[in-house]
Amino acid sequence: MPLPFPILSAAEAAAMIENGQTVGFSGFTPAGCPKAIPMAIAAQAEAEHAAGRPFRIGVLTGASTGDSLDGALARAKAIAFRAPYQSDPTLRAQINAGETKFFDMHLSVMPQMIRYGFLGPIHWAVVEASDVTAGGGIVLTTAVGAAPTFLQKAGKVLVEVNRRQSPSWLGMHDIYQPVDPPHRSDVPIYSPVDRVGSPLCTVVPEKIAGIVETDLDDETVGFAPPTDVTRRIGMHIAEFLASEIKAGRIPKTFLPIQSGVGDIANSVLGALGAHPGIPNFQMYTEVLQDSVIPLLQRGRVTFASTCSLTLSAEMIREVTAQLEWFRPRLILRPQEITNHPEVVRRLGIISMNTAIEVDVFGNVNSTHIMGRQMMNGIGGSGDFTRNAYLSLFSCPSTQKGGKISTIVPLVSHMDHSEHSVQVVATEWGVADLRGLSPVERAEQLINRCAHPDFRESLRDYLRLTKGQHTPHHLGAAFKMHLQFMETGDMRGVKW
Ligand code: COA
Repeated sequence: MPLPFPILSAAEAAAMIENGQTVGFSGFTPAGCPKAIPMAIAAQAEAEHAAGRPFRIGVLTGASTGDSLDGALARAKAIAFRAPYQSDPTLRAQINAGETKFFDMHLSVMPQMIRYGFLGPIHWAVVEASDVTAGGGIVLTTAVGAAPTFLQKAGKVLVEVNRRQSPSWLGMHDIYQPVDPPHRSDVPIYSPVDRVGSPLCTVVPEKIAGIVETDLDDETVGFAPPTDVTRRIGMHIAEFLASEIKAGRIPKTFLPIQSGVGDIANSVLGALGAHPGIPNFQMYTEVLQDSVIPLLQRGRVTFASTCSLTLSAEMIREVTAQLEWFRPRLILRPQEITNHPEVVRRLGIISMNTAIEVDVFGNVNSTHIMGRQMMNGIGGSGDFTRNAYLSLFSCPSTQKGGKISTIVPLVSHMDHSEHSVQVVATEWGVADLRGLSPVERAEQLINRCAHPDFRESLRDYLRLTKGQHTPHHLGAAFKMHLQFMETGDMRGVKW
């Protein structure tokens, strides 16, 4: 039976969206994002600008997106406001130039902030689906993100039905939204495998303004092969976690893993899978990257709960071809649930995220270059770090060919404080900061994580101030950053 919704071209769908409106797009990372409609909105913005008329919209998503969403809209100068996370180079430049307003936020709170009305009205939800029912049932694709909330709160809905994603995605999702206070109760997830919601999103059918049919791959970029540095970081973290099991501080059965985005995270997971001291484990995470799929296939990862399948095109084809095999081993949930502080703390997650820089006392900057330039956003790292059983950060000890130390006297922007950051790893080793005073933390971070080229300089910094609980010298704390901004090199600072 044909669906009771108009079948539209992408241009017809985009033409319904007006200047100044706010659109909530499905997807989380490039996975599960609509592709044709945002490109058509970008084309419409360009045409409007050429005709001398303004056209910019508010763009809300689950997290980062693909090039046809953030990339195309940014190139068309069509984004007035953006939240909660992005990683597109053009958009990043516009944010840092002050041309686009960006609100960086914890990903778990984004859906409830929308429901509470804190981010204004959502005029449109534009979602990618593998299937739609006449009654308004929407089966999402490779990610959930904040789509259920966008669908609930938006005035109107446009659906991209992506024929590349087979209708058998039905059953891969667990759609659950907490009731808002004062009526909220617990999120009843007691193990990563627990299903608590519905396999599909539902909207009042009258809200569906139309359907656009597409046949397009997700735009996820593959990962770089491990480097010596990422391999060493992975090895140190695997060794550290295995020794924690031996010491009885992590149960012998292990605990669910959350792992951040990027090449380091991909490498760390590979190292965990290869380490004989790490038992088979489950994941309760926000993004699932390529390295986890072979671990699932080998039984090293026994179950994975995630918000998004951020997989390369080859890997997604492999998963799609064996969806029946993956069905009992993989579940996709909204970011409000994958990153939920209550669930993260209850399950005892081991969280592993990446830092831009870490200061000698254990504060972490995950978002800003030299304190001013937004990189991507805090993403889910805060949701996990603050609530994890054990929270780890890793990064290479240097950047830009050794000219930047990622271990600094004082972070130039702080996302995760010393109160939440427990373990830091670089290619040189692991600093275990638990139970240590600021001075002891500094010793660990300098001796075990800082690059040897910077160790003496960091020790000299600590000698500037004596007899304080946290021996900062307020006049010198940013000297390494300032020197880099002047000369392009942090080495050899004269304190
Ligand atoms: N100072 C100056 N530049 C730095 C730097 C520092 N301390 N640290 C990194 N950079 C630069 C790198 O040189 C690189 O520049 P390039 O693009 O010109 O080559 C760029 O920043 C990215 O660095 P890279 O080491 O490739 O980082 P990454 O891709 O592993 O990403 C984060 C690291 C921190 C930006 C990324 O993990 C992130 O956005 N995290 C926040 C969100 C998050 O943690 N989510 C987790 C839950 S999924």
